[in-house]
Amino acid sequence: MTLHRKQFILGGIAAACLAVAAPAFAQTGKLKVGLMLPYTGTFAALGNAIENGFRLYVDEQGGKLAGREIEFVKVDDESDPAKATDNVNKLIKRDNVDVLVGTVHSGVAMAMAKAAKDSGTMLIVPNAGADAVTGPMCAPHIFRSSFSNWQPGYAMGEVVAKRGHKKVVTITWKYAAGDESVGGFKESFTKAGGTIVKELSLPFPGVEFQALLTEIASLKPDAVYTFFAGGGAVKFVKDYAAAGLKKSIPLYGAGFLTDGTLAAQGADADGLMTTLHYGDSLEVPKDRTFRLNYAKAYKLQPDVYAVQGYDAAQILGIGLAATKGDVKNKAAFAAAVEKARIESPRGTYTLGKTHNPVQDIYLRQVSGKENKLIGVASKSLADPGRGCRM
Ligand code: PHB
Repeated sequence: MTLHRKQFILGGIAAACLAVAAPAFAQTGKLKVGLMLPYTGTFAALGNAIENGFRLYVDEQGGKLAGREIEFVKVDDESDPAKATDNVNKLIKRDNVDVLVGTVHSGVAMAMAKAAKDSGTMLIVPNAGADAVTGPMCAPHIFRSSFSNWQPGYAMGEVVAKRGHKKVVTITWKYAAGDESVGGFKESFTKAGGTIVKELSLPFPGVEFQALLTEIASLKPDAVYTFFAGGGAVKFVKDYAAAGLKKSIPLYGAGFLTDGTLAAQGADADGLMTTLHYGDSLEVPKDRTFRLNYAKAYKLQPDVYAVQGYDAAQILGIGLAATKGDVKNKAAFAAAVEKARIESPRGTYTLGKTHNPVQDIYLRQVSGKENKLIGVASKSLADPGRGCRM
């Protein structure tokens, strides 16, 4: 054997040993988490609740995950898709974050998923339901702690059909989340024999509902299905009642319509039925401690967004524990998360192959300041993950 060949073989053996041994070295430096969330605009309260939930979990672990101190870098994405690529690249290229956590708005989240894929950066989505994120854009290092837009809509289509409504008008913001929420609703509602009389929409984040409410009054459907959230949801519920429609045409929605919004909606929200993966009176022991700790830390009641932020940190913690703090070990990180049972305030769930929660979707009804649980609308509902190849 030539000397050159011997060196080549020895070198190869050394490299193989290193490759096997590498995961054993625990990472100990600070872990940089890039929070890209809306801190202004119609979704500002949602962004803050997500950050609060995320920080609560990290604080419960003594400020460290897998022995690594967590350092935060924040960007206000303003729920503006036009600024999303620049914003996410600040975190990836300027701040060199180890993990991206964001965001609320589906259009912004899709730009984040693209940048995460292009750069190989780990991404955990703590709200945005864009079906594509765990569909065609799915990746081993992209995870979601929330829902797909399809999920609450699909569950509600079955509920509305079972309640005997035949003709429904839908109304939402014209963007991915609205379209896909209505898409999920339509899929199950029409399968059960229902008809969508008209699909109404307005541009995000508009709140000029008057002309559309007049149209609903003249169409006289059996019921209305809607997706609105944050500040827009507050205004829609108030305007629907003020237009006199609440008495005559039942309003149903994805649960964002009444989550984190009840204090501002007051009596106008009373009685509304929605579907969501969280509620205010769950018999989940984990929820009791979560609510106590959240209220103590922030002097606020948590909502679904706080839960999703908390779970995003839990998912990060699970992956880091399995890789001794090494986010670069994506295969081991993903394997650990995929087999985990996540003990969430919403109840236990798994992430499934596409990394989207497989979870119970609850039927809730507003009573006073609470989204009271009525039952489970859809048990262990998995997003179909259409287009995901991993
Ligand atoms: C979304 O854009 O995906 C979105 C925004 C707010 C919500 C839910 C979904 O409450």
